[in-house]
Amino acid sequence: MKKGFIIAIDGPLASGKGTIAKRLAAVLQGVDLYTGAMYRGLALFCLEHSIDMENASSVIDQLSKITFKYQKDKIFLNDTDVTQKLQEPEPAAGSSVVGVIPEVRQDFVKRQRILGLEQMEAGNIVIVEGRDIGTVVFPDAALRLYLTASEEVRAKRRLAQYKEQDSSWTFEKVLEDIRERDTRDKERKTDPLASNPEKLGYTVLDNSEMSEEQTIDAVIRMLKERNLIHD
Ligand code: C5P
Repeated sequence: MKKGFIIAIDGPLASGKGTIAKRLAAVLQGVDLYTGAMYRGLALFCLEHSIDMENASSVIDQLSKITFKYQKDKIFLNDTDVTQKLQEPEPAAGSSVVGVIPEVRQDFVKRQRILGLEQMEAGNIVIVEGRDIGTVVFPDAALRLYLTASEEVRAKRRLAQYKEQDSSWTFEKVLEDIRERDTRDKERKTDPLASNPEKLGYTVLDNSEMSEEQTIDAVIRMLKERNLIHD
């Protein structure tokens, strides 16, 4: 049987993690596990059930009521396909609010480990993408990549995505949104996004000036250097 392994990809908002994880999964015939979907999914569930996301104990009460299923490119929350909805600005904003709650993180880390290990043990290359993957969820991953880009580049990328749904978004508003969420992700007490990724042993890749293709090529090179894949 093929030997499976884990690639952990962390980094700030709109650094291209999602796109790169999906494309890598296609190139390597592996699977990608988008962990942000759980935080967004919980925020969506709270929005739909009028739960105050600032009230930690109410949010924690919702954990036992939600299930996630990843199926090819689709994400199901309690058997409803929420793939598109998760990308809307409201669950996106709520995700970093529910993500500061330690009990939420413990629960999701457990779910993510089960899903990732299941795939790895089945012989798959698993690309797990989030904020705390290389530090908490899979600290022993075969490659721990920290993908980043300048704030300006990231704001431009996110603006293009939001504008498809709502033309009132401006560059300044997206920049403010990015700064606010990155700060929350980096400053939370439990499992923050690394502010010093090199020191923590990540391989850091700044893709501000790189195309998707170039980013994929760079990651493939890293995997070959580590003898994880061969020509
Ligand atoms: O990656 P994405 O932007 O979809 O993640 C949404 C939010 O979920 C992040 O801003 C972060 O607050 C939270 N998150 C997290 N840990 C992860 C993945 C996402 O805290 N592993």
